[in-house]
Amino acid sequence: MSTARLGFGRHFTEHMAVARWIHGAGWSGVELTEHGPLALSPAAMALHYGQAIFEGLKAYPQPDGSLALFRPGVNAERFNSSAARLAMPELPEELFVEACETVVRADADQVPRGPGQSLYLRPFMIAVEPSLGVRPALEYLFAVIASPVDHFFADGYQAIEVWCASDQIRAARGGTGAAKCAGNYAGSLAAKAEAVAQGCHEVLWLDAEERRWVEELGAMNFFCVTRDEDGAPLLVTPELSGTILAGNTRDSLLRIAPDLGVRVVERPVALDELTAGDGKVTEAFACGTAASVVPIGGVTTAEGRVRIGDGRPGKITTMLRDELAAIQYGVQQDPRGWMRPVPVHAAAGAAPAG
Ligand code: PLP
Ligand code: COI
Repeated sequence: MSTARLGFGRHFTEHMAVARWIHGAGWSGVELTEHGPLALSPAAMALHYGQAIFEGLKAYPQPDGSLALFRPGVNAERFNSSAARLAMPELPEELFVEACETVVRADADQVPRGPGQSLYLRPFMIAVEPSLGVRPALEYLFAVIASPVDHFFADGYQAIEVWCASDQIRAARGGTGAAKCAGNYAGSLAAKAEAVAQGCHEVLWLDAEERRWVEELGAMNFFCVTRDEDGAPLLVTPELSGTILAGNTRDSLLRIAPDLGVRVVERPVALDELTAGDGKVTEAFACGTAASVVPIGGVTTAEGRVRIGDGRPGKITTMLRDELAAIQYGVQQDPRGWMRPVPVHAAAGAAPAG
């Protein structure tokens, strides 16, 4: 694999894993095929009523040349809760992980091994039954495709700017905000365009009812750092209220931080706290599989921009980012058993890490 800029999700490996579900018969086995176009009826129900869910996880190159998935069981579990919300069939966790491993093994020689690079896996499920009836489909396709990706910060570790959408919402109680379904992302794109027009990189979503509480970003969870009563740093993130996606990275950071001496609290975070400009919020960042940990340098609302901290990546943010990366790339102990090695046959071409 050349070391030219890979970006995110622009290149794909040669293979994909596919399984099918038919009402009454259940799941087929996992089949490895070439990555290529799917034959789909124009009446496939996913195209009309949006029964489409997905996941995102990565295989990380390890110092000994092997590859390892980061907490794939968490993604498998979340996939099933997304499936349940969209009235789609659940997938046995072993089948989800087997499909991911099958692609990683087949395309191990296409995993980029430069600093911060990895193989991004995109498991997804769509309703393929040809029907225009508004009801759960009776046939589904599950597949895993893979994309060799750069580190999000291949051009340098910098803080991003976020735009607080005032007239649109991402999720409401009882809706699909906690599911990783395609429609959530379609619904976020107009606000994202608005964010870009405002000179920002991402949308910071507020709650639907009061438009007062910070929820998350378009594809990342939100954290900030304040001080506790003794002046020690306190890592704060909105609790999972049913409208926020339960991020794997979010959960991992909540577990890592206390081991690094940083207390954590899950509680509502008011937008006012961020925009008060009183220096109480010293750092903010977003996190997710694709981008890892991304510092937030400023928040822009209709009233103008407020800088967070000194506008640059904060100390705690950077410490958490480094610790997570050290575990994922196998240069640090993995006391929680998060990394799942993918046995790769020598013939598959796993090269030693360079
Ligand atoms: N929130 C949303 C809406 C997302 O799409 C993602 C990305 O998957 C996340 C949060 C972060 O989740 P994770 O850390 O599991 O990638
Ligand atoms: C991820 O972080 O894995 C995501 O799925 C984000 C994606 C929507 C680009």
